[in-house]
Amino acid sequence: MLIDDIDFASLYQQQLQLAGRTEKSPQHWDAKAEKMAANSANQTDSYLTQLLAKIDLTGAQSLFDMGCGPGTVALALADQLQQVCGVDYSQGMLDVARQRASQQGINNTRWERRAWEEGWDDLPRCDIAVASRSTLVADMRDAMSKLNRQARLRVYTTHLVTPTFMSPEIQYALGREVVELPNYIYALNVLYQMGIQARVDFIRGRNCQQDNSTFARFEENVKWTLGTLSDEERARLDHWYHQRDPATIAPATRDWALISWDAVPNS
Ligand SMILES: C[S@@+](CC[C@H](N)C(=O)[O-])C[C@H]1O[C@@H](n2cnc3c(N)ncnc32)[C@H](O)[C@@H]1O
Repeated sequence: MLIDDIDFASLYQQQLQLAGRTEKSPQHWDAKAEKMAANSANQTDSYLTQLLAKIDLTGAQSLFDMGCGPGTVALALADQLQQVCGVDYSQGMLDVARQRASQQGINNTRWERRAWEEGWDDLPRCDIAVASRSTLVADMRDAMSKLNRQARLRVYTTHLVTPTFMSPEIQYALGREVVELPNYIYALNVLYQMGIQARVDFIRGRNCQQDNSTFARFEENVKWTLGTLSDEERARLDHWYHQRDPATIAPATRDWALISWDAVPNS
């Protein structure tokens, strides 16, 4: 078999299905909005600092931030641009983004409630399009194509490097099956098969906001990523935790791949 015989867009969908990944509802994200805003306001947010350093704003006046969450990227770049547009399907995230913009005295923002899967024809085309940590979409080809159409100059997207959000060791400890999600390599190949030769860079995590010094904190960190735990899972996690030095525990992966390209007309 040759590489061109592989349809990476279908392979991506197959991997998502194998992972048993269910579509998250906007309400799932509403509940996370405040905490995510607190994390991104944190000056030591090394992810955001590294990402901003890699976004080239040369010649750009506007930004389209898809899956903007609490305005993480849009607000951080607003003072360097004339207009930023944050788009998300979670009303809770957009409310927090709007509130943060007003607290920071930023008034060149526009917030739109929209899903990846809906039509974007009425949304503004911008010089730069970003999708930061919001790319675990149902249809990668469609998503990348929409983002490419939305940008006049350049597109920046970040994707998982490893195929799990939570370390397999902890998923085993809970008695769960390890779920392997499609990582960045799928997106890169989907783009290649769309005729887009993208650049790849990496954002290295430092686990800086992970405090696992008590079981209660550790449990919160695990639940942030995996959701509610059953009584049995909680007991298994408690047992696992107390057999270790908390300083050596790193439950969630924090590395991201940054895939970027110059906008290509008609892709
Ligand atoms: C992990 S957060 C990332 C937020 C922000 N971009 C950042 O990097 O901090 C993922 C965001 O994608 C949004 N999202 C997830 N699925 C979506 C979909 N199908 N359509 C639109 N937004 C979606 C969520 O509501 C959430 O705000």
